Amino acid sequence: MSPLRVTRTLPEDATDAALRADVQAGLTATPKTLPPKWFYDARGSELFERITELPEYYPTRAEREILVDRAAEIAAATHARTLVELGSGSSEKTRHLIDALADLHMYVPVDVSESALTQAGQALIEDRPGLAVHALIADFTARLALPETPGPRLVAFLGGTVGNLLPAERAAFLASVRRLLAPGDALLLGTDLVKDTDVLVRAYDDAAGVTAEFNKNVLAVVNRELGADFDPGAFDHVALWDAGREWIEMRLRSRTAQTVKVPALGLAVDFAAGEDLRTEVSAKFRKEGVAAELAAADLHLTHWWTDAQGRFALSLSTVR
Ligand code: SAH
Ligand code: AVI
Repeated sequence: MSPLRVTRTLPEDATDAALRADVQAGLTATPKTLPPKWFYDARGSELFERITELPEYYPTRAEREILVDRAAEIAAATHARTLVELGSGSSEKTRHLIDALADLHMYVPVDVSESALTQAGQALIEDRPGLAVHALIADFTARLALPETPGPRLVAFLGGTVGNLLPAERAAFLASVRRLLAPGDALLLGTDLVKDTDVLVRAYDDAAGVTAEFNKNVLAVVNRELGADFDPGAFDHVALWDAGREWIEMRLRSRTAQTVKVPALGLAVDFAAGEDLRTEVSAKFRKEGVAAELAAADLHLTHWWTDAQGRFALSLSTVR
């Protein structure tokens, strides 16, 4: 069994500086926002895994169904020797792909969550002793430097996480993924699809309150890292469908007028009663939109697979 290699591509103080910059900008903006990547400390990653098992949260099951059905086709279309996975989390669904890729030499999971990466990487090298795993603690929206690995490369971005980027961020992100690919390489992209509003809203506002806890976890992260005094109990979890932009928005709504202090930034942030802090968008897609966004980044859709109920899509695209 080869040992798990873990590389931190940014020093820890860079993560700290990025959090400070995002909190400073987001809490002084109108409306107030925080980027979703800050959900994922160890607790946030655990809560996300619990979300994936909720009866209301269908994307993980739908995407797993596609992967189980199509892994052999993906392997035949790509012959990948290196699998790079962005926002890999627990890497659970990816195992279906790893097992189907007969020529796979190296798996490179990339995530901001060190706890998720090391747990997933360790479990994988124990279960798949022949596989080399080089985990990267990195922000996939920043310039990615990948290790020298044999091609063809398959870059996977699963779960619908691409929908957590705003449209301009998505365009920049897809262009940066394109720069990682050479002819013969491919991108495997998971996108959640537009569907009935109630189904969508329930997936982000579950009866057991796990998504509410996940949403409020970002306040615990800002409290711990920047000494802020957010009271998670003073905010309500809100999930709403924006029909114009075709995305779910998660917000935290202040129950009362309150002032939150963020000592590390010398900041006092006033919230009016009922004021929202947007913590995430989760865009839902249609085939034409995905193809157009890929084409704008010089990526060309070759395969489009959905689950039997047409809730979620996996697409494969290549460079010409
Ligand atoms: N791909 C997995 C996990 C999805 S959850 C699945 O389909 O189940 C989203 C994952 O992306 C989390 O593990 C989170 O830590 C990671 N993530 C979110 N924003 C990120 C960023 N900017 N850079 C790197 N990883 C990020
Ligand atoms: C990771 N990402 C695709 C999830 C989503 O569905 O947008 C994050 C999430 N937010 C609330 N529930 C799950």
